[in-house]
Amino acid sequence: MQKFVIKGGKPLRGSVRIGGAKNAAVAILPAVLLSDEPCVIENLPEISDVTSILKALTSIGAEVKMLSKSSVSIDPRPAKSFTVTKDITKGMRASSYMLGALLSRCNRARVSPPGGCDFGVRPIDQHIKGFEALGAKVIIDNGMVYARAPKLMGASIYLDVVSVGATINIMLAATKAAGLTVIENAAKEPHIVDLANFLNSMGANIMGAGTGVIKIRGVSHLHGSNYSIIPDQIEAGTYMVAAAATGGDVTIENVTPKHLESIVAKLIEIGADVEEFDESIRVSMKSRPKKCNVKTMPHPGFPTDMQPQIAVLLALADGTSIVTEGVWDNRFRYVEQLSLMGADIQVDGKSAIITGVNHLNGAPVKAVDLRAGAAMIIAGLAATGETTVEEIDHIDRGYENLAEKFKSLGAHIERVDDFSEYKVIKNA
Ligand code: EPU
Repeated sequence: MQKFVIKGGKPLRGSVRIGGAKNAAVAILPAVLLSDEPCVIENLPEISDVTSILKALTSIGAEVKMLSKSSVSIDPRPAKSFTVTKDITKGMRASSYMLGALLSRCNRARVSPPGGCDFGVRPIDQHIKGFEALGAKVIIDNGMVYARAPKLMGASIYLDVVSVGATINIMLAATKAAGLTVIENAAKEPHIVDLANFLNSMGANIMGAGTGVIKIRGVSHLHGSNYSIIPDQIEAGTYMVAAAATGGDVTIENVTPKHLESIVAKLIEIGADVEEFDESIRVSMKSRPKKCNVKTMPHPGFPTDMQPQIAVLLALADGTSIVTEGVWDNRFRYVEQLSLMGADIQVDGKSAIITGVNHLNGAPVKAVDLRAGAAMIIAGLAATGETTVEEIDHIDRGYENLAEKFKSLGAHIERVDDFSEYKVIKNA
């Protein structure tokens, strides 16, 4: 096990390059199974969730060849198995996409239920409703989800909740189904659009991705494609908030500013200066953050995956802010950790009342999930003294080269083995 050791209190300065989007990559990689030919996927983030999906593809027989750290060639033709077991899926939510992809490829799929971050109950009833509408029979038995359809047929599917995962899974299963599928109340996240663009680049006929109604006219064959994944909205947002929380000045490169609008709007309300360019964003903060209320919502609302990070900034603000979680039942488990650093936060149901303090104090804390872990890193960078962040395997699921990227901005952060004596960081 490893941990991060941070000596905080230093404003971040410089520029940092953002990698490919995790939540697009984990949908696009299984989508390769729909193709009749090999595909090359570029701008892959170097994160453990991508490694896990590649392992899942290898485990069913696909030929996976890394061409560089961020590009992979996948030949789906040798993939004969339709079963993905628990040792492959544990800890990762996106393994559920193997269900839609295998159902499309083999007309059946047997996949261990997905893991991922613990935000309370994480049902897949809307995924199942979609598969059933397309003609599949779905059974959950002996710890495995089993789906089978003699023939997938297009259908009209209204999602009872706006679900990223269900929208993606239904898109995967419907792309080669006979006839027209209409997904109503679909999720609109940038990764939904990226998946549709990838499938269309292979010859699919998908319209309306990015709106609440997605129409898919089934095609019988998909050809190979060479596709580059969009930049990661949440990784970008995390560095933007880190710049503001440390009173720094950082240019975040290789981003799509349109995907960052809700984050930019809140940072400006909080008092940051934000300059937008074609593919980069500069964030600087010269004064104490101002209080601000934030409510998370599906895209284009403020992303739930930025909720813990913005809460750290507000924990340092002048005044009291309310952060309301509008997507998950329980996404405040990190508050206990932040309180160990001196934050003043009361959680009341789906809201957190944050009374800003002058400074946070370094402390030993842990990453209770992926974005909570990113929030602890930001808190450690902004705090006075030393912070250690444990259980960082959560962070490794979604942030590539995190210590190196923050170091390039002047941060004092080291990844060290948990049980060895760690290096004392000098001059901090
Ligand atoms: N929901 C249902 N039934 C379903 C599916 C979802 O009731 O069948 C509910 C959930 O309980 C939740 C809401 O719908 O309250 C939204 O869930 P969604 O299905 O959109 O989430 P997800 O697909 O499981 C993805 C991201 C999460 C991100 C959410 C919301 C991936 C791999 N994961 O999860 O990302 O929080 O969408 O935007 O794309 C992260 O990257 O840190 C992360 C957790």
